[in-house]
Amino acid sequence: MASRDHRKILTVADPAALANAAAERVLARIDANSGRIAICLTGGSSPKQLYQLLGSEGYHDRIPWHRVHWFIGDERFVATSNPLNNMAMARSTFLDAHAPPSNIHPIATDTAGPDESARQYEQELKSFYGAGRLDDARPLFDLVLLGVGPDGHAASLFPGYPAADETERWVVGVPQANVEPFVPRVSLTLPVLASCREMLFEAAGAGKRAILSRVLGGENLPAGRAQSMGETVWLIDSAARPESLGGN
Ligand code: 6PG
Repeated sequence: MASRDHRKILTVADPAALANAAAERVLARIDANSGRIAICLTGGSSPKQLYQLLGSEGYHDRIPWHRVHWFIGDERFVATSNPLNNMAMARSTFLDAHAPPSNIHPIATDTAGPDESARQYEQELKSFYGAGRLDDARPLFDLVLLGVGPDGHAASLFPGYPAADETERWVVGVPQANVEPFVPRVSLTLPVLASCREMLFEAAGAGKRAILSRVLGGENLPAGRAQSMGETVWLIDSAARPESLGGN
């Protein structure tokens, strides 16, 4: 695949337009692969509208559900019944209504702890991929969705934490979060998130403008270091667009 740093910034009017644009990119990635498709979802509030759209009339019938596998880029180490659980949110919003259960790949949160969950998920990813080492010519994911936190984290890779510098492990336990919710996390690492044809960040609202200005301005933060081996796209709305980027 192409080398890194192919970051593209796309600005749309508002959160509704952002969800539409994201849904069309998800479908384009699905259409581009006639075989087994792997999509890595994200948590937080940013992707909710996208997930609702994917499950809605006009979208769900365009998805070949039996061929698409759904993973999660990070998880909060809480029970699946807890509203903070990322995969539970994706499941209740769209997956459970449409995806075959065996195509949904949650991070377990009923293990002895985040490290054990990370170990299990790493095994699951390796077995799905069919190898223990990633090959740049054969990305693990078709698409990785991500959001950006106020401190510049992506997935649960917080600035200054060892997890953000991990290069060997595919998945790590993160005992303590840097921002709310302050629950332990489990996170895919940067090299594994990079193993995709497209990485798609979503960020909307004025509350994201300050951190976007730092990340897109080149500051050394996990969300800026998270880049695909293929295409990296930042889908933002006009309220989130930093002035430093100039007009649309
Ligand atoms: C998590 C996330 C995290 C999130 C960002 C943005 O589990 O918290 O995966 O990385 O994407 O914090 O969150 P919002 O979309 O809620 O702003």
